[in-house]
Amino acid sequence: MLLVLQPGKDELGRVAARIIANSVRRNPGLRLGLATGSTTLGMYRELARLHRDEALDFSRVTTFNLDEYLGLSASHPQSFHHFMQHNFFSHVNIPAQNIHIPDGTISGEYERYCSTYEQSIREAGGIDLQILGIGRNGHIGFNEPTSSLGSRTRLKVLSKETIDDNRKFFTASEKVPECAITMGIGTILEAKRILLLASGPSKAIPIAQSIEGPVTASVTASALQHHPDVTFIVDQHAGAQLKHHDYYRRVLEMTAILTPDRL
Ligand code: GLP
Repeated sequence: MLLVLQPGKDELGRVAARIIANSVRRNPGLRLGLATGSTTLGMYRELARLHRDEALDFSRVTTFNLDEYLGLSASHPQSFHHFMQHNFFSHVNIPAQNIHIPDGTISGEYERYCSTYEQSIREAGGIDLQILGIGRNGHIGFNEPTSSLGSRTRLKVLSKETIDDNRKFFTASEKVPECAITMGIGTILEAKRILLLASGPSKAIPIAQSIEGPVTASVTASALQHHPDVTFIVDQHAGAQLKHHDYYRRVLEMTAILTPDRL
């Protein structure tokens, strides 16, 4: 586990974008797992800038998004399809056929749809680099507390907390979605490398629980302790409850000397 501590949201976005850009340069056919949420915005902005100013080429990259609200069409302004199009895909050169996001408009035969999504990840050769945010309740994707730590892509009922957190993005007359399709914890853990981004004081407790607490389905991000290659990129607010800062700093310094291409 690597922990990269940054002063604020903008800086952590730039660090994440640099790691992604280096991965794409090393492997132009990178299979990239993507996340939504306000924490990822700076990262997408920086990737768009690298494409525009430094000719970072995404033409062979394949992407798989973590999740989508059930019941929202791709054109709904709060759908994750719309988020991705607006904040990333419209600014870079990923071919449309290489982009995969769960379809929020399906109705019925959910299991079949979700196993097809899993199959498309497998057929692409698996995910090389998965980006994650974290919910206030410690969820990754939409794997709410009590999700099975072996779960696969499936339909998930959202917790009250998550619905309340999302309410601000919807107009008063709109119903906030109560369900989503999300990659499971088991799906996420199969990615070769994982980057988790967290910013702000509301993430301080879930970050400390995920990194230094017990592995528990009550904080699904804690399952990342079972993954061999996770990098947490957090700002000082999200990292405020961690106990072992000194150790994380030394690990980072050694990493910069011994394996600088990881940063
Ligand atoms: C949603 C997404 C998560 C994301 C979380 C945090 O719940 N399903 O993947 O990590 O939001 O969002 P934010 O970065 O806006 O705090």
